[in-house]
Amino acid sequence: MVLGAVVQWWLWSSEMWVSGGGVVTSNEKVELYEEGRFLVEGYTGITMMAMEGVVLKLPSFSQLVNPNYFSNRTSRNSVSISPNLLLLLRQLLFRPHPFLSATQPDPILKSSTRATDEYEMARRKVAAFVNASESSEIVFTRNATEAINLIAYSWGFSNLKAGDEIVVTIAEHHSAIVPWQILSEKTGAVLKFVSLTEDEVPDTKMLQDLLSKKKTKLVVVHHVSNVLASVLPIKDIAKWAHDVGARILVDACQSVPHMAVDVQNLGVDFLVASSHKMCAPTGVGFLYGKSELLAAMPPFLGGGEMISDVFLDHSTYADPPSRFEAGTPAIGEAIGLGSAIDYLSQIGMQKIHDYEVELANYLYENLHTIPGVRIYGPAPSQTVHRAALCSFNVEGLHPTDIATFLDQQHGVAIRSGHHCAQPLHRCLGINASARASLYFYNTKEDVDDFIRALVDTIAFFTSFK
Ligand SMILES: *[C@@H]1O[C@H](CO)[C@@H](O)[C@H](O)[C@H]1NC(C)=O
Ligand SMILES: *[C@@H]1O[C@H](CO)[C@@H](O)[C@H](O)[C@H]1NC(C)=O
Ligand SMILES: *[C@@H]1O[C@H](CO)[C@@H](O)[C@H](O)[C@H]1NC(C)=O
Ligand SMILES: *[C@@H]1O[C@H](CO)[C@@H](O)[C@H](O)[C@H]1NC(C)=O
Repeated sequence: MVLGAVVQWWLWSSEMWVSGGGVVTSNEKVELYEEGRFLVEGYTGITMMAMEGVVLKLPSFSQLVNPNYFSNRTSRNSVSISPNLLLLLRQLLFRPHPFLSATQPDPILKSSTRATDEYEMARRKVAAFVNASESSEIVFTRNATEAINLIAYSWGFSNLKAGDEIVVTIAEHHSAIVPWQILSEKTGAVLKFVSLTEDEVPDTKMLQDLLSKKKTKLVVVHHVSNVLASVLPIKDIAKWAHDVGARILVDACQSVPHMAVDVQNLGVDFLVASSHKMCAPTGVGFLYGKSELLAAMPPFLGGGEMISDVFLDHSTYADPPSRFEAGTPAIGEAIGLGSAIDYLSQIGMQKIHDYEVELANYLYENLHTIPGVRIYGPAPSQTVHRAALCSFNVEGLHPTDIATFLDQQHGVAIRSGHHCAQPLHRCLGINASARASLYFYNTKEDVDDFIRALVDTIAFFTSFK
């Protein structure tokens, strides 16, 4: 962060939305002030609270953004910070704001209008971020899971019948498999699974072979695998799908936060992503859908802003995206997502991606040298780019033991389990794996710390054998 940079933060709960700004005063400190307090419920009430000079000692700015992942320094930064402040820090999003400074808070605006304006602004930011041609092509959902279910229930039930086929890879997240299983049970549509090549990437040749002009109606693929770290050629797959008259849905949860994603260039029909993987809050995600497809889809959930007129025997529905946003939307969370997008865009997605490719190779190469370690997914090369994560196992050790020891003894946070991809794990012949994942705020030193800690962990467990 640049000294003197002005930041903005948001803090929210189900009833309250608090926001403020701050100024970076040194590498260790940001002075925060609270600017406004909005009661989200019913959109009433506004209180201004000026909080002079709340000075927080921060370990490092990069660690604030998303303290959930990987580095030990990130998971141990709560030392002298009260739970409330910690919550605040978790939600702290950096955003230079031309109208804000420590001494001149934003003028008071009517809170309800402001909340709606900022919410729609957030939608435009998401649209621009993925290069949708219109912001009405962005539907806010609670998360990517809900976005996929929306497509399954709304588009799926009105477009699929017995004998139609949905092509899915076995490397999909459960959220991108289960809704189609439910749909298949009810409609008689058939799921066709694409398996892996010897290099442990989804077999695109097999995917092409499974496509049928008569039967295939939908192709569901991830952009980047959360286990294999492989990247699928979405633009090609979209073309193949369209050639047989099918639609394509892309799970972009692992790509949107890490690289520039352009829905028009990729030529996809639907794309989903979640907010909490991109420096933004939990509880919000989004669906991109081509406007002509959304316009023809019936509502998914009923109530709230999604109606046009309600009579006792029937209702008429609003146009997209409101049609798909029943009930009180996650206003604060969506605005937080907008701020995160500003932050990421300011750094530059290409820059983030290039840096992560370098980190990804560094992680792979170093992890690869440890005896007994088996990394899943393709080896990186000139032509194969891996995402900045490695799922792995260590011979003779259980991944959960590794993760627990790394956390407790070294403060290094990795994940273990099936990562919501059991069919993929079964295909790899395992039940679980450990996974180290990096983001742009991680460094090669973090990787070194992790490798040292892992070597120590392996030595500890093998000393008992
Ligand atoms: C967004 O897509 C349009 C249409 O393909 C293209 O002309 C434009 O350059 C894209 N914008 C960005 C920022 O890439
Ligand atoms: C994600 O969406 C599902 C389905 O709507 C919901 O049950 C779940 O609570 C959501 N998660 C969060 C964190 O909002
Ligand atoms: C992080 O891990 C490294 C290597 O295991 C260790 O030397 C360091 O003390 C740890 N730092 C914290 C803050 O726990
Ligand atoms: C996976 O789990 C099953 C059931 O718990 C067990 O029988 C099997 O041995 C496990 N396989 C591996 C490779 O650990």
